[in-house]
Amino acid sequence: MMDWTDRHCRVLHRQLSSCTLLYTEMVTAPALVRGGALHLLDHSPAEHPVALQLGGSDPEELAQAARLGAQAGYDEINLNVGCPSDRVQSGTFGAVLMKDPGLVAECCAAMREAVEVDVTVKCRIGVDDQDPEEVLPEFLARIVAAGVERVTIHARKAWLQGLSPKENRDIPPLDYDLVHRMKGLFPNLHISINGGITSLDAARAFLEGGLDGVMFGCAAYPTPVEILGSADRVIFGRPGPDRTARDAVQAMLPYIEDHLAGGGRLHQVTRHMLGLFAGQPGARAWRRVLSEGATRPGAGPELVEAALSQVCGEAV
Ligand SMILES: Cc1cc2nc3c(=O)[nH]c(=O)nc-3n(C[C@H](O)[C@H](O)[C@H](O)COP(=O)(O)O)c2cc1C
Repeated sequence: MMDWTDRHCRVLHRQLSSCTLLYTEMVTAPALVRGGALHLLDHSPAEHPVALQLGGSDPEELAQAARLGAQAGYDEINLNVGCPSDRVQSGTFGAVLMKDPGLVAECCAAMREAVEVDVTVKCRIGVDDQDPEEVLPEFLARIVAAGVERVTIHARKAWLQGLSPKENRDIPPLDYDLVHRMKGLFPNLHISINGGITSLDAARAFLEGGLDGVMFGCAAYPTPVEILGSADRVIFGRPGPDRTARDAVQAMLPYIEDHLAGGGRLHQVTRHMLGLFAGQPGARAWRRVLSEGATRPGAGPELVEAALSQVCGEAV
């Protein structure tokens, strides 16, 4: 998720869950291939399994970007066919590609040819006045024919005319039934569902209903412990205690030290940690100490420890 799930966020999330698959923010193929912005591929070995999400619509450029991603060590290359922003529409990538399944298939085939890791797609159920019942099966058939074995479906349309990117995440209605019906039509395709899912119980219900995966977007960010801290046990059946916010903070301290030693700033990491103690006594003090102190020059792990000492209560 752009501006949210950067590398520091993903390291934090990995401290809460070992089994979940994490995704990068969308990185555009032109930025990597034409712009040479290879720093966009930087990530930590701690993040695995982690998928690189690419945006683009030129098969050769996407193939090259996928190759760079695989060389950088990503476990999966995902093509974004869901982003509705204007900037992205003008570059002919993101959700507007729902209108051109043949081109998406070409892109996927070229990417698959270029890398050994899985090439996957994240799509919408349609855009604008398309009829999802018609276009989604056609879209899936085309990418399956191109060799794609896993897809994540954001279960709402993108309305490219008239809605902002933010409105496009909430306003077009969700159609979960359609996604279930796609699983009936494509039993061998690994289908994950996305959109409006806010609890692990809801995720389990989708899995019990026959879907293969669930992608959390917004719900996993502001209060990550609730979703990620229990996911290994609740979703993946791993024994052992759930990870707590305190576990995550302790595990982040060495990472923070390395980040600072490499010239980074504390707030680049701690901005993702503000919601860790949400709902617990001391949560406000935790947020305050970090928000006020982490941008100050020289701020380091001792600030995080000071913030942690403000948090009390047994749950931490
Ligand atoms: C701030 C923000 C940035 C996002 N960036 C991306 C992105 O880079 N790639 C992507 O596939 N989806 C992106 N999304 C969409 C989410 O991945 C997700 O599909 C959408 O929010 C619906 O799922 P949710 O209800 O679980 O959040 C973004 C959403 C938000 C709120």
